[in-house]
Amino acid sequence: MQFTKKATVTAPAICAELRASHAGETGAVWIYKGILLVNRFKRDSDIETFAKHHLATEKEHLSQFENLIDRFRVSALLFIWILAGFTMGALSAVLGKNWVYYTIYKVESFVDVHYQQQISDLSKLDFLDKAEIISMMKVCNADEQAHRDEALNAMTGKPNLIMRMWGKLVGSGSHCAVIVAKLL
Ligand SMILES: [Fe+2]
Ligand SMILES: [Fe+2]
Repeated sequence: MQFTKKATVTAPAICAELRASHAGETGAVWIYKGILLVNRFKRDSDIETFAKHHLATEKEHLSQFENLIDRFRVSALLFIWILAGFTMGALSAVLGKNWVYYTIYKVESFVDVHYQQQISDLSKLDFLDKAEIISMMKVCNADEQAHRDEALNAMTGKPNLIMRMWGKLVGSGSHCAVIVAKLL
């Protein structure tokens, strides 16, 4: 995706959206790094293929937002989003294969709704490279939907009560993270 090169003053609302998505894509990269680190010991080839493929996509998403980095202030809490992503990924991988798939399903379900909301909100505003940025977000969103569906299809059984509670925590944690990242 090609963007206008020069640095520009970006309206606070757009800056906040870009910061939240940059934080989210950073967290996503680290979720898969956490999964892959634990999987070095578990040596599950399905998880390795799944996580490596998703990691490559998330790195591509992150680099797209980094191309726009002169348009927004990066989250001051980026280290927290890295730590949270890594911990979520690593913990799910320790708990088991189904936990990994369910965690990714819940994260990507949240991200799908978030991108859709963001695309709808940004469509109503005017800003530099609007068409390119919205189309970039649509491509990211389509990838997240594919990740979500892939994770759901890979599940080997229904989530138990503890997993469902974990899933709610993942969803509400992601929701809070977006609110905070828009501000900080
Ligand atoms: Fe992503
Ligand atoms: Fe994703």
